This record gives sequence, C-alpha cells and structure tokens, in this order.
Amino acid sequence: MTAAEKSPDACFRTAVVPAAGLGTRFLPATKTVPKELLPVVDTPGIELVAGEAADSGARRLVIVTSPGKDGVVAHFVEDLVLEHKLEERGKFQLLEKVRRAPGLLDVTSVVQDEPKGLGHAVAQAERVLDDDEDAIAVLLPDDLVLPRGVLDVMCRVRRKRGGSVLCAIDVPKDQVSSYGVFEVEAVPDAVNPNVLKVNGMVEKPAMEDAPSTFAAAGRYILDRAVFDALRRIEPGAGGELQLTDAISLMIAEGHPVHVVVHRGARHDLGNPGGYLRAAVDIALDSDEYGPALREWLEQRLSPDWAPQLTQYE
Ligand code: G1P
Repeated sequence: MTAAEKSPDACFRTAVVPAAGLGTRFLPATKTVPKELLPVVDTPGIELVAGEAADSGARRLVIVTSPGKDGVVAHFVEDLVLEHKLEERGKFQLLEKVRRAPGLLDVTSVVQDEPKGLGHAVAQAERVLDDDEDAIAVLLPDDLVLPRGVLDVMCRVRRKRGGSVLCAIDVPKDQVSSYGVFEVEAVPDAVNPNVLKVNGMVEKPAMEDAPSTFAAAGRYILDRAVFDALRRIEPGAGGELQLTDAISLMIAEGHPVHVVVHRGARHDLGNPGGYLRAAVDIALDSDEYGPALREWLEQRLSPDWAPQLTQYE
C-alpha cells in the first residue's frame, strides 16, 4: 500500500527528525553509538519514529545529523550483502526486519554544523523541501508516543482549522520545567475535547511561571511559515535557538496554533529510565518476547522473590 493510500488525510510529505544531539544523558553508551540507534527491544528508536511518520503519510524523512553521526542515516540504507546472507540461510523473519527501515520512506540527511538548538536544527530542513510543500511534520526521536496515530488526528485538525498543530501531554506540575509548555483555551466548537487552542508557548518555564501543565510531546505539524519565524528568533532558554520561540512568535503574529492532547503513553527515550520503560512497554506487547518477560517480571516483583546466592566455600 502506498503512503497516499494508507493515509489519505496526510497533510505533509516530509517528516523532519532532529538527530544531531550528543546524547550525554546516555553516556557511556553514546560515546560511540548514536542514541537514536539504541535498540528499543530490537529496533532502533529512530526506526520506530520513522515508522510512525510513514504510517501517517510521510514519504520522505529528513534526518538532521551532526558530524560523526553517519550511522543514523546508514541504518536506512539497504545492506545487500547482509540480506543475501540471511536469504541463503533461510532466515526470512530476520530478513524482513532488516529490510524494514530502508523500505519505509526516502531518507535525506542535512547536517547541523553547530549545536545551536532545536530551532536551528529544524531550520536546516528548509533547503531540501519542495516548493509545493506547505507544511512539515517534526518528530523528536527522544519521544515515543504510543499508540501511534496522533499525527493523523493532528492533520485532521490542521485541515479543519489551518495553521500549525502540536501534540501535548498533561504532565505533573513539578515536571513542567523540562518541556515547552502551552497556554491554552478550549475551542468552543470542538467535537473532540482534546483539541485546544494555543495562545502562547514558553520553553522550560519555572514551575511557578508555567501557564499550564500541557507540555509539548515531540510531535509537530508546522506550517511552512515556521522557517520565516526561525530566521527571526534570538537565542532563548539555555542560550539556544528554540523551536518553541519560533512557534510563540507565530502565535503572537496571529498564526493559528492548536494542540491535540495525547492521552496514551509517552516515553522519553533520551534517558535510561524512560528508555527502560519504553522497552518493557513494547516487549510486553510483543508475541515474541512478551510472555516470557511477563512471567519473569511477575516472579521478580513478587514479595517472595529473593536472589539465589551461590555459596562458595
Ligand atoms: C524539546 C523541546 C520541548 C519539548 C521536549 C519534548 O526539549 O524543546 O519544547 O517539550 O523536547 O521532549 P528537550 O527535551 O530537547 O530539552
């Protein structure tokens, strides 16, 4: 099935995935392995995110990398030698897994030379867009949003209300300072109560300054006008060019922005704690790994569990 058949309502062709970060929260693993390639069960996080984009109609993935992170793009290139070996050995299930990433969508990469922030990373994608693309999707590969499908809802909102549409999650108040936070109001004629109008957005506010507990969850459908706004912002939180500040500028200039509040799961793959949860969540749902993991977890969590110590003399 083609992307157009799968997602007739898609409102973007290009999905931008910023993957230029150093992954410091994951050292020492990320000394040599880009964090986007760390496996969630058996699949790199970036392939999960690419699969989500493809499911929602993306035809092209633009990966924003930094020097030294070529492996992220290589994951999407066919490896005919490996495929041939697997075929010869009759390992067809593995062959299917290996072919999945290169078959998802066309992958292009652009390089962000200097770590100047998420807004600067997204701005690099403009040069590879076609003239007729009026919106892009941005998916942050640190955020795993489950179950898939929020981008489809976001596209429906853009079709109905225009402008840009972001995904929000409702976070505990003491966590707001880790996110971009929305100032929202209800949409009077909204059929879906999880669609809210955004009147402002602030990056990593102090708890007492946060306008709400609705936080950006790493999924954006942005009107092409965002690139013009990105050219006009100054460094913000952390001294970086923030995507949040470009969106906030667009709102101030009258551009309509809405959020879809995602009520499902969201895991932060960018730190070991969130990554572990994501792996357990996905593994528990897998036919291959779920039953054995569940059985072991039940034993491990039971009050009777006690490590068996081997006695040495
Ligand atoms: C980025 C965005 C922030 C968003 C968050 C979601 O922050 O700047 O607005 O809420 O991703 O994960 P980061 O986590 O890269 O600091």
